[in-house]
Amino acid sequence: MSSLQYKALKGMQDILPPDIYLWQKVEAVAREVFSSYGFQEIRPPVVESTNVFTRSIGENTDIVEKEMYTFTDKGDRSISLRPEGTASVVRCYVEKNLHTLPSPQKFYYAGPMFRYERPQSGRFRQFYQIGVEAFGDDSPRMDAEVISMLRHCLERLGLKEVTFNVNSIGCAECRPAYKEKLIEFFAGGLDTLCPDCNRRYSSNPLRILDCKVERCKDMRQGVPKVTDSLCSGCRTHFDSLLSFLELLGVSYTVNPDMVRGLDYYTRTTFEVTSENLGAQNAVAAGGRYDRLVKEFGGPETPAIGFAMGMERIVELLKNTVAHAFPTPDVFLAVIGDMAARESMVIADRLRGKGLWAELGDSGNSLKSQMRKADRLSSKYVFIIGDDELKSGRLKWKKLSDSSHGEISMFEITDFLQKSSS
Ligand code: HAM
Repeated sequence: MSSLQYKALKGMQDILPPDIYLWQKVEAVAREVFSSYGFQEIRPPVVESTNVFTRSIGENTDIVEKEMYTFTDKGDRSISLRPEGTASVVRCYVEKNLHTLPSPQKFYYAGPMFRYERPQSGRFRQFYQIGVEAFGDDSPRMDAEVISMLRHCLERLGLKEVTFNVNSIGCAECRPAYKEKLIEFFAGGLDTLCPDCNRRYSSNPLRILDCKVERCKDMRQGVPKVTDSLCSGCRTHFDSLLSFLELLGVSYTVNPDMVRGLDYYTRTTFEVTSENLGAQNAVAAGGRYDRLVKEFGGPETPAIGFAMGMERIVELLKNTVAHAFPTPDVFLAVIGDMAARESMVIADRLRGKGLWAELGDSGNSLKSQMRKADRLSSKYVFIIGDDELKSGRLKWKKLSDSSHGEISMFEITDFLQKSSS
């Protein structure tokens, strides 16, 4: 009989210990930082009607054209695994009438996203984002607040060597003039642009700026800068944002070449990059999307948000920050049958108090149990045999410095709780 080999799908990963501790750390720090800015968690579904994504992200974006996991369900509906969180959160904001609550409404979410991209280092088909979205405030103060919140989050994780790229891509008023400039700029090079960009040329020339094909990238040399085409409203908004970032001490680089791969953005866009990653160097990205709520049928509501890429942040943490992973508080090395029964009770009691207790196997020699405690990097080893049961006193050893001593059986919990605090 041939044995089947089961493998995770390409671009999908298992996240295992000890890496999982870094994931938990990122999530915990993000929750803490976001909460201090008044953001509250929401959990939209992982699957939505396909049209939630197509119109908002944009028909001509790579995500919608090439990367969506789209299926027909048993009710003959077109549904898609979410490629990002913003569209779902906006759908929820409008559907649940969250705009009737006092502004601004601030939310965060965490979970898997799906894009059928070509997997490579830092790029997966299932990846995780922690994202935030703030609704109902069009002031550049909110942009600065959100960007500074991201800065604090990364700093609290120990990630300081990152660049905050900021840009403004204008609004419905100034974008058409910029599109005209692009049409003029690319007109002579249509034979060189890839077939996708030829289509984009007539549907949405801005997307040519986001194409990853080499010859299209080459064609972009000297392309007009969006920041030179901003209307006075967008110019003032952007200049105010920059001055607020300076006020809050956020270092930034204005990067007019930075285009985002999603159509819903207006005005501010930003991307945090790191030189300590490979080609996929964006660890977080976001921007303002003042028209999206209206497009989903809600009232005109400005909004801004970002999403951090968990895999890339964890990779950066692994490469640049030292970590201590959790280890057992105690390993109970057991000699004899009576002690085996009693140590089960002791371990159970310790676990009930929130201590990590590992139990040795009385069938193994004390030496081999000590070796196992060492392998697990247990903080303490307690030795429990018939003699210890009779006397009510246990021998302890601290593995980090080999200090040792004796303790009454009744004091174990106290002893461990004090030394782990
Ligand atoms: P995005 O730039 O598409 O924006 O993704 C945000 C972040 O998710 C990226 O900077 C990257 O760290 C991570 N990411 C994206 N694709 C992958 C992938 N295939 N593998 C690993 N990591 C990936 C958005 O998704 C917007 N919804 C952000 C936003 C929120 N804008 C406003 N609010």
